[in-house]
Amino acid sequence: MPHNIDLHAVTGPGGGAASSLTAPGHTSVFSFKTLNPGLYVYHCATSPVGMHIANGMYGLILVEPKDGLPEVDREYYVMQGDFYTKGGYGEPGLQPFDMKKAIDEHADYVVFNGSVGALAGANALKAEVGENVRLFVGNGGPNLVSSFHVIGEIFDKVYVEGGKLVNNHIQTTLVPAGGATMVEFKVDVPGDLVMVDHSIFRAFNKGALGNITVTGPENKEIYSGKQMDAVYLPEGSAIQSVDTGKAPAPVVAQTKEEKIKFGQRVYEANCQACHQAGGVGIAGAFPPLAASDYLNEDHKRAANVIVHGLSGEITVNGTKWNSVMPAMILSDNDIANVITYVLNSWDNKGGEISPEDVAEQRKAAPAQAVPGAH
Ligand code: CU
Repeated sequence: MPHNIDLHAVTGPGGGAASSLTAPGHTSVFSFKTLNPGLYVYHCATSPVGMHIANGMYGLILVEPKDGLPEVDREYYVMQGDFYTKGGYGEPGLQPFDMKKAIDEHADYVVFNGSVGALAGANALKAEVGENVRLFVGNGGPNLVSSFHVIGEIFDKVYVEGGKLVNNHIQTTLVPAGGATMVEFKVDVPGDLVMVDHSIFRAFNKGALGNITVTGPENKEIYSGKQMDAVYLPEGSAIQSVDTGKAPAPVVAQTKEEKIKFGQRVYEANCQACHQAGGVGIAGAFPPLAASDYLNEDHKRAANVIVHGLSGEITVNGTKWNSVMPAMILSDNDIANVITYVLNSWDNKGGEISPEDVAEQRKAAPAQAVPGAH
């Protein structure tokens, strides 16, 4: 599918999104002048934008002031993001994106630098006692605002929202979705510092946790270590239970109208990025679904293509297409709904297909041989 970048450091329409929209196998070029120093997020802005961002398509661009930033001993990049998967936290196997959870802002994962543990344990950031550390902290979102905190440190400086304003002596700073900040601190004593999103269940239950290992001599005046051990009765001594109730079964469309309604959502979440709003496709890359003779002449073949994928040459409305459509990981219901939606949209000829028809195609051979496959 095509992608692009909206660079927040760009002054211009879409942050460069339209100028950088690039289909597979193509290259795009545009130029811009950096007018404002600061730390900026960039992200993919291809429709559906949220889905692309939720797949981790973002990063940071630093526009240094003319005279540069003050010298420090260490600089590190920390980028937070929230992720939404069909399975819950830690479930093994390939986990497809879950649009419903994303819309509801129910993140399964909140992580730094793309995965649980990316900055923890053996991957911990490092510093020596006496050094000044600068963290470039960004938040790709797509949804959650970060309460960025380093357990065991106080930020000597925070460049508020990644701009010019500097605040001092800060414990926790907000990093908006699609925003950034720079924090600086001198490490005075050895030990393990813990970077967290202080919306704390995200840290200990969803992955938003990283370490900075500080080595060097102790300073007992600044931090003594334990001086006494007495019995303390913590709150909440009872074992806490976790609700393991199963999610209810998905609602199945009962009528053609419901299929069309549900199918529209499936289309927007899974198909629209390539085949585009209105089913118009992208010339040279993705064939149209609007008024498509290929689609209207064989509804079951459409199900087959979604289930098994398609590669090799096909002819749609008199034009030859030779691109690759991946097999989609969707339920029989979702596929029946989305085909019924498309058949009844954009000058197509109407019609309906059932989940049973889709199940039959799942067992059938691919409609068109995929080169290299058997
Ligand atoms: Cu993208």
